[in-house]
Amino acid sequence: MCGIVGVLGRHEAAPIIVEALKRLEYRGYDSAGIATVDASGRLDRRRAVGKLVNLSDRLVHEPLTGTSGIGHTRWATHGAATETNAHPHQAGRVAVVHNGIIENFKELRAALEAKGYAFGTETDTETVAVLCESFLDQGLAPRDAAEQTIARLEGAFALAFLFEGEPDLMIVARRGSPLAIGHGDGEVFVGSDAIALGPLTRELTYLEEGDWAVLTRHSVEIYDAEGRRANRPVRVVEIDAARVEKGGYRHFMMKEIAEQPTVLGNVIRHYLTEDGRGLALPEATPDFARVDRLSLVACGTAFYACMVAKYWFEQLAGLPVDVDIASEFRYREPPITAGTAALFVSQSGETADTLAALRFCQGRAEHILSVVNVPESSIARESDLALPILAGPEIGVASTKAFTCQLAVLACLALQAALDRGRIDEGELAGHLRALASLPGLVARALDLDGRIAALAERLAEARDVLYLGRGAIYPIALEGALKLKEISYIHAEGYAAGELKHGPIALIDKSVPVVVLAPRDGLFPKTVSNMQEVMARHGQVLLVSDQRGIDEAAEGSWAQLAMPAVEPLLAPILYAVPVQLLAYHTAVAKGTDVDQPRNLAKSVTVE
Ligand code: AGP
Repeated sequence: MCGIVGVLGRHEAAPIIVEALKRLEYRGYDSAGIATVDASGRLDRRRAVGKLVNLSDRLVHEPLTGTSGIGHTRWATHGAATETNAHPHQAGRVAVVHNGIIENFKELRAALEAKGYAFGTETDTETVAVLCESFLDQGLAPRDAAEQTIARLEGAFALAFLFEGEPDLMIVARRGSPLAIGHGDGEVFVGSDAIALGPLTRELTYLEEGDWAVLTRHSVEIYDAEGRRANRPVRVVEIDAARVEKGGYRHFMMKEIAEQPTVLGNVIRHYLTEDGRGLALPEATPDFARVDRLSLVACGTAFYACMVAKYWFEQLAGLPVDVDIASEFRYREPPITAGTAALFVSQSGETADTLAALRFCQGRAEHILSVVNVPESSIARESDLALPILAGPEIGVASTKAFTCQLAVLACLALQAALDRGRIDEGELAGHLRALASLPGLVARALDLDGRIAALAERLAEARDVLYLGRGAIYPIALEGALKLKEISYIHAEGYAAGELKHGPIALIDKSVPVVVLAPRDGLFPKTVSNMQEVMARHGQVLLVSDQRGIDEAAEGSWAQLAMPAVEPLLAPILYAVPVQLLAYHTAVAKGTDVDQPRNLAKSVTVE
């Protein structure tokens, strides 16, 4: 996913764009660039490989002037992360920035080359610039050239065009990738999301699927996919700047891990009645007594939240659940029956794989629900019901507070399903909700393990391979722990169902392999202890994460232990996410990797 920004302003555009790109850098940071048009109409650009700071350095020595500009921070899809491939791409009189993938760029490029147009990069985006330039060559005005260009593109894109000789014109378009227009006083802005535009304006208009727009400092003309003028609402969006800063923490990830007691408290209170004894889900929540099957679909960490939820819906509500990785879901051609509710979990609400899966279910599933952190996101807007997780902006690429808040919302839905289907009564519900309401305090106590975990992480940082084991609803937390470690420390890690180790993976065990055993003292604990002993018998170095009772019973022979607060089994997956988050964080810090912006990754992947 990339981040794009545009300004038709009253002040020099380059510094404003750099600041906005800083707030978008979590979306991708392989390269960055800016193009401006100055008062004389001169179009110029600067680009740099790597982090945004490299572009800032470039601008010090080679400044750009002009109060009109577009900017881009890139997560490479087509073409390596080089300056040549960095956006903005320019062809003659037009410069363009792009988030998404142009799926027919090869055909368009071949046709343009046949007309004698030359290309200098491997990117799909350059084709957009050359195509637009070819329409200018035919004598079309910039606005018409851009309209004709957009009409010929296939795939997913958010685009912003600037033109030589047009200091008060910008053309933007949205298909498959989000784009917001910000309204200022005699200024207009565009951005991939509200976070980028937060310091510039609170008044935003979100383009709808297929929209394109003609912007000047004093006018915004929006056209829908059929070319008709469209009126899109102007929304006042509060982006609390403090929540998009590190707040004294070394990394956003640590800040967001530490925010969990607060944001969990917020989201739990949001979905409970005032007295805390009942659920207060939206009216549009389906009656689960009339749902035959629940299909949970997501990617990455959000997928692991779905795996946990499967245990809850099936054990508590007796509701059959399918769980699918979004990128696989529609290709297995799942039989979606009328009684199916499809639920999509996504922090960003823009993950292309998950959005595509949602669209596959439209017209097939009876209910389309989503659990998201961005209420105005594409997934939220295309759902029958979007349930916000209220985690606040999550900037660290590794998802932490969003994961535990997703689980809290899914737990509420599973309890509602259990009540609807007569599997629990109001009294039992009140008991579960009392436990849920105590979770923020337990998470705060788990955070007290931070210092001990930092010490243990020094050992993990030396490992070549790390295994995570869990059983039941904790098994997905083993998978999540492994993903966290992989994605920010670059250490190979695998999560396994503890009972599965003896069916092959145990061959990996020797004294060099740390094995993190996640095992609250629940009904499955004795079996997990057996698996743990099989590991220790082969000199595996076991880190036992359990409660004090479990540690007292089974710590002998283990390398180290983490004593977690005792917790109701239903909620253990949420609580046990905290130590694996901290383990990954401190291991990455010990290794010196880029914790908030790990290599090769982006916060939300808006390409399939
Ligand atoms: C999580 O730490 C990863 N960054 C990644 O797996 C992420 O969960 C996945 O890309 C899904 O993103 P979403 O929740 O925004 O859809």
